[in-house]
Amino acid sequence: MAVITMTSVPNVAMHDKKSSTTTVVVQEVGSDHDDDASPHPDTDYKLNRDGRESLRLTAQHYCLVARQGFLLHPTLAESIRNISQPRIADVATGNGVWAAEVAREYPHASVLGLDVSDAQYSPKWTWGRNSGFDLYDLLQDVPAHLQGQFDVVHVRLILAAGPNVDKNIFIDRFRKLLRPDGWLQWDDLCYPNVHLVQMPTDGVVKTSSARDYPIMHLLNKYLSQEERISWIDHFQPTIQQAGGFDSIIHSVAPVRPELLTMETELTIAVFSDLANILILNSRITSPQEVSDLRRAVVRMCNDRNEGLLFTYNWHTGIARRSFA
Ligand SMILES: C[S@@+](CC[C@H](N)C(=O)[O-])C[C@H]1O[C@@H](n2cnc3c(N)ncnc32)[C@H](O)[C@@H]1O
Repeated sequence: MAVITMTSVPNVAMHDKKSSTTTVVVQEVGSDHDDDASPHPDTDYKLNRDGRESLRLTAQHYCLVARQGFLLHPTLAESIRNISQPRIADVATGNGVWAAEVAREYPHASVLGLDVSDAQYSPKWTWGRNSGFDLYDLLQDVPAHLQGQFDVVHVRLILAAGPNVDKNIFIDRFRKLLRPDGWLQWDDLCYPNVHLVQMPTDGVVKTSSARDYPIMHLLNKYLSQEERISWIDHFQPTIQQAGGFDSIIHSVAPVRPELLTMETELTIAVFSDLANILILNSRITSPQEVSDLRRAVVRMCNDRNEGLLFTYNWHTGIARRSFA
């Protein structure tokens, strides 16, 4: 039976849901890893937090980073290069895959993953030397010990599945977490802007809105959050108007044909889960509506077998917290 002794992480607040000791008997950890009940009872989170969802987040992470071409935007990477121990927060970190990768790529940084739920966190003994995880609910104001602490605040995929709050509340929380001159990086998509991909005839990939595609149409109808999240298309003026930031840059990653199959599988997985959760949680009760939604999921899977491909606009926005 192997025993692993862990060292502590300097300058990183850590929450350990499993054990407060630093010596772990490996054979016992496996049994500690049952799937969490889902959806989480504390929030109106729209997705699961079980092992399968964690696997989806991990696959999605590598697909998104390949599309985007970086973990940290080059401007932010440059800004922390000469800071002796920059502090990076990943808010709504999920299973912490981005936080763990950034901690590996920037060994001089200390990285803190924060989420309202620790259900998808790895056991503490597996965390990197310079990474840690803790709890933070974005519906609550930023606690005093986290205010003004971070050189970089990263947030990804918080709009479609995250809490149903106004964008200005999110922006205010992220501003408060940052040190003056610290950077926000926001990676996200507006899922009603998913596109269907046509086979290129002249070497150019063409896309058209999937808005009227049955599963999209129904999810838009039942989740009705387009108005709340579509502002990401206008990242720059929105952050400008919120105030307290400068040097705002917004980009959309170009479509990469070699990633389309993976993007399609990930889209199908999340749409199927959203549909199932809507039905299981009795958010849709009419037998006709339930049957329409089920049929739309089957149609999507059949169309995929016939060569349907999805893609989406993948946004990255960065902004620097102003001094004033
Ligand atoms: C789609 S996942 C994205 C996870 C991660 N950012 C990524 O890109 O892999 C959305 C995350 O938002 C978190 N979340 C939902 N409501 C939240 C809240 N009120 N405060 C903090 N995190 C929240 C969920 O627990 C989940 O981990």
